[in-house]
Amino acid sequence: MKQRVEDLDWKNLGFVYRDLPYRYEAKYKDGEWQEGKLVEDSTITLSEGAEVLHYGQEIFEGLKAYRREDGKINLFRPDQNAHRFTLSAQRLAMPPFPEDRFVEAVKQVVHANEEFVPPYDSGATLYLRPFMVGTSNVLGVQAADEYVFRIFAVPVGAYIKGLNPADYIVSDYDRAAYAGTGQAKTSGNYASSLLPSVEAHKNGYADCLYLDPREHKYVDEFGGANFYGITQEGQFVTPKSKSILISITKRSLLELAKEQGLNPVERQITLEEAFKMKEAGAMGTAAVISPVGSITYNGKKHVIYSETETGPVTTKLYNELVDIQYGKKKGPEGWVQTL
Ligand code: PLP
Ligand code: COI
Repeated sequence: MKQRVEDLDWKNLGFVYRDLPYRYEAKYKDGEWQEGKLVEDSTITLSEGAEVLHYGQEIFEGLKAYRREDGKINLFRPDQNAHRFTLSAQRLAMPPFPEDRFVEAVKQVVHANEEFVPPYDSGATLYLRPFMVGTSNVLGVQAADEYVFRIFAVPVGAYIKGLNPADYIVSDYDRAAYAGTGQAKTSGNYASSLLPSVEAHKNGYADCLYLDPREHKYVDEFGGANFYGITQEGQFVTPKSKSILISITKRSLLELAKEQGLNPVERQITLEEAFKMKEAGAMGTAAVISPVGSITYNGKKHVIYSETETGPVTTKLYNELVDIQYGKKKGPEGWVQTL
């Protein structure tokens, strides 16, 4: 059933799928991307032999549209999502979707569903989910030769606990292999995180923290966000790893942290070192910046900063980022596109 705007409670949206009026669809066949268009049908019809159903040829993106105080709408670095989509496509042997068309299609979906962009100050945003799947029939393991690219939109609230500290547990499982698909935004990485996250949720944790898959010694990332820590010396540190997603929020914070004199660095961070951080957090489009209250490992809980309060550096970074996204503050050139 189509979502009616009058049935939405902007302050209690959660992070759930809703069937909005319009989505964008383009198909790839005969070696090229066809012209795309907005469509109303939220379903995709697939053959039982479709590649994605067997060998998981799927990639996706996540970005948000923000309602500004003046009523206009901001997109945050959509060109970066378009580019990462290209990199993910290459890793999954899929035909890249032209990056300029990606950004244009995102704008079309926002405009078409404009009444679903939550009001300024509601704390909610319109989340956009571009994705691509291999649709042609295969039996042997091989890449598809037909694809569907789609972008749907959903109004959302906080993904983790917003700016409230959350508890995490270190997973015994890996979500991505060292030279595997961790740097690509592809469904398989998330499929492998489902069992660990079900167990984590059952035990009261917000999500898992994954370690590097080769040595299980260094921090990799959370199931749906990158990790950062603020050292006792006040430095912003975030893992450098071949098996994590190259987060756009992370790359943005590396720049903002530099402006704030936090001497940011990407390097390996041992789990032991992470336990001693002054502050730590999760960062991502859905997560925004969400403080880590504790990390449990081998049955021992390590509290980082506080389980109930958010540290000053995290608060400052959060405000800086969110103010730029909503257009309250001018960010670096090209970060925000206003519709
Ligand atoms: N890591 C994982 C596994 C994610 O799913 C996400 C979300 O997109 C991120 C990190 C954060 O990336 P970004 O800041 O580009 O949203
Ligand atoms: C995002 O932040 O856009 C993501 O894709 C994370 C996902 C786990 C919701």
